[in-house]
Amino acid sequence: MSLHVLHHPLAAHVMTHLRDQSTKPATFRTLAYQLGLMLAIEATRDLATKDKTVQTPLETHAGQVLARPLVVVPILRAGLGMMQPFLDLFPDVSVGYVGLERDHETAVARSYYCKMPPLTGKRVLVLDPMLATGGSAAQALTVVKEAGAHELTFVCIVSSPEGVAAVAAAHPDVPIYTAAHDRELNDRRYILPGLGDFGDRLYGT
Ligand code: PRP
Ligand code: URA
Repeated sequence: MSLHVLHHPLAAHVMTHLRDQSTKPATFRTLAYQLGLMLAIEATRDLATKDKTVQTPLETHAGQVLARPLVVVPILRAGLGMMQPFLDLFPDVSVGYVGLERDHETAVARSYYCKMPPLTGKRVLVLDPMLATGGSAAQALTVVKEAGAHELTFVCIVSSPEGVAAVAAAHPDVPIYTAAHDRELNDRRYILPGLGDFGDRLYGT
């Protein structure tokens, strides 16, 4: 397992405003987009490229282009708040969806939707802003593997030690990229210091 935490002054700045309970949904969505952009760059540093020669206005140049198309799989509903930066940055990206919702009492996630594009031979990034107990992430990664993916990355905005340990135990092959690695879970399985319920803050529910 590998855990990669964003270390950048801009990420720290944006994260602090995202955590702030006075931040309204419109601003929250913009901040989530900005962190998504930074995470998208970090989580794809090792993408394969292939050679492509182009003619500049001055001479011939031996460059590189992306070798394979990407797939992103946001976990509904909060994962949608991280999807747009990936669509904006990557050409030929396709999108799968996994719908999961945590029970408020037990914190165990229930699956209510799944739709995948062809995954064979594709690099797949699973997106969910909050990695709390890790139950939703582990379940989603299993679904995506069962649909044919072999090369996966999990990308979140806030992770907890418990969530990282759960994903590492269930999917040791999947690297985790996060913008912040927080302290612990409270007794309702929310991340501390965290930012509260991401989906509610994203959509004003
Ligand atoms: C939140 C979050 C994750 C999950 C994390 O979703 O977006 O999917 O909780 O918790 P876990 O690591 O303990 O499983 P939620 O179930 O609240 O649904 P939502 O996205 O519809 O708000
Ligand atoms: N889901 C959230 O949105 N926030 C948490 O802190 C935990 C799960």
